Amino acid sequence: MESNKTFTMIKPDAVANGHIGAILDKIIGNGFKILALKYTALSAEKAGEFYSVHKERPFYKDLVSFMSSGPIIAAILEKDNAIEDYRKLIGATDPSKAEPGTIRNLFAKSIDANAVHGSDSDENAAIEGNFFFSAFERF
Ligand code: CMP
Repeated sequence: MESNKTFTMIKPDAVANGHIGAILDKIIGNGFKILALKYTALSAEKAGEFYSVHKERPFYKDLVSFMSSGPIIAAILEKDNAIEDYRKLIGATDPSKAEPGTIRNLFAKSIDANAVHGSDSDENAAIEGNFFFSAFERF
């Protein structure tokens, strides 16, 4: 398993609020290389599939509804220690607990509308990247 890749989404709130450019700038400025990038949208069915690991959690229905509410950016990122470094860059899941200067501290409003997703393991980064991108869409 490769440990130098992670997967991210810029979520519907951050896209709607005009933060795509600023977030991509932060990602690139912090040494992540973009290997794949897509502007797309998740249907409720696809959002449910992507987040199926959370299907027993009380927030699952709201999460699926929110993630299918508007367009998103999906991307595969490369950097040494990508999973841990990216989670540090985005900050805590709940933006009220995110460190100053992190992406969620700067751009997120709530735990649901928390601006970005970041993979939590090498295994999930591979699964999530494969969910959105074919071999012909990675560089
Ligand atoms: P994300 O990193 O995309 O993974 C699952 C998402 O569920 C998470 O970000 C949050 O946006 C959302 N969520 C809502 N409530 C919770 C909660 N109590 N704990 C974790 N995630 C939550």
